[in-house]
Amino acid sequence: MAGGHDFVVVASRLPVDRVGEDGQPPEVQWRPSPGGLVTALEPVMAEANGVWIGWPGSAGPAPEPFGVGGMHLVSVGLSADEVRDFYEGFSNATLWPLYHDVIAPPMFRRPWWDAYVTVNRRFAEAAAGQAAPGATVWVNDYQLQLVPGMLREIRRDVRIGFFNHIPFPGYEIFAQLPWRRQIVEGLLGADLLGFQRHSDAANFLLACRRAAGMTTRGSLVRVPPRDAGAGTREVRAGAFPVSIDAAAFGRLASREDVRKRATVIRNALGEPEVVLLGVDRLDYTKGILHRLHAFSELLDEGRLRSPGSVLILVASPSRERVEQYRLLRDEVEVTVGRINGQHGELGSPPVHYLHQSYPREEMAALYLAADVMLVTSLRDGMNLVAKEYVACRDDESGALVLSEFTGAADELVGAFLVNPHDIEGLKDAIVRAATISPPEARRRMRAMRRRVYDNDVAHWAASFLAALKQAPGPG
Ligand code: F6P
Repeated sequence: MAGGHDFVVVASRLPVDRVGEDGQPPEVQWRPSPGGLVTALEPVMAEANGVWIGWPGSAGPAPEPFGVGGMHLVSVGLSADEVRDFYEGFSNATLWPLYHDVIAPPMFRRPWWDAYVTVNRRFAEAAAGQAAPGATVWVNDYQLQLVPGMLREIRRDVRIGFFNHIPFPGYEIFAQLPWRRQIVEGLLGADLLGFQRHSDAANFLLACRRAAGMTTRGSLVRVPPRDAGAGTREVRAGAFPVSIDAAAFGRLASREDVRKRATVIRNALGEPEVVLLGVDRLDYTKGILHRLHAFSELLDEGRLRSPGSVLILVASPSRERVEQYRLLRDEVEVTVGRINGQHGELGSPPVHYLHQSYPREEMAALYLAADVMLVTSLRDGMNLVAKEYVACRDDESGALVLSEFTGAADELVGAFLVNPHDIEGLKDAIVRAATISPPEARRRMRAMRRRVYDNDVAHWAASFLAALKQAPGPG
């Protein structure tokens, strides 16, 4: 079983959005979704005759392979039951909370695990069917942790990389997972395992020793042969912090229409003295309530004034059929209502809450309009929003308040780092950021911009693929 592609990307989703109706040609039905991963991998895909394997995002049979924007796309279909058990269940109600330090209680359900195994096998078989002899296969994220091992069973000739976009938890937490050994063994089918932070890679290496009884030396894991025909393999685990297409955001932010839109936004808000901004998926890992509580107390105490200080809260809809997300939405909306009821005046509420998704132009305009960006995640693999804000601030003004529990905190040293659980500390950081002097803002922003532009998404993909090439390789 071999296909004709020398480079295969496997991710839970295809890099396209559906915009047309069934029955229309695929180029009309689908539009590329402008994500960082696609931007980084498009040139590699074009050069290496690449293919992207993923789920198109709704239940039903997989459409035939199709091409959009020069990319070859192969769909993996999920039934409605699999969307419930694999996507909403095991991926987003078991692994997601577990890997984010059990901020919400993870649910361990055996039928969800069965669906995870079934769907991972389908992805592995799809990859095996597309990869040319000796191809490179890059598997992405927590939804697909069994794919490397399953793929290696079918195809010993391919070189497999795996990148985990979310945190890998400490062992005491990971150990709660009834299927911890299977997950570790699945991941170890790869030749190279990439994580966001060194601490994630260290957590994984410990899990290899404790959950699967492997031995490790530095960043290498010794994987004993699975059967008589195979040899001992060495698998490397390391940190490769993901990033954004910084130059593309910079170009957006310098566009005349986007700059005008930023002015219109501030004008529509009543020309406040301070605009604070939060942009997240509506997810309990993002610390949205902590941010609201800090803002509310600052208004109560008169350390921020209303009108005068405005918080724009963009919380885009996400995983809306998962119980914890529904509960969070209710709580956020009640809290916003309470703050606006208490501190608002006719025509000028202090919190502008937007439960919507926006195109990148509007996001860039919001970043330009905001004096202070608030990223208060309780746990976050990287947080690309923080990097997008920095990439857009070409006049080196503005300030970033950033949770130390994000991967971005390792890199963005010019941010005001906070522990979002410490509401007093968070409030102090918000006030310091809102009253920063222009020279201090410039010094901090310059350092962050250098980092984001140097370590952009192309650099991330190139360094991961270079390390994959050098990894010990198929044994
Ligand atoms: O950060 C992990 C991630 O899976 C991203 O890759 C993705 O953008 C986001 O979470 C939302 O995921 P989904 O909508 O597929 O559940």
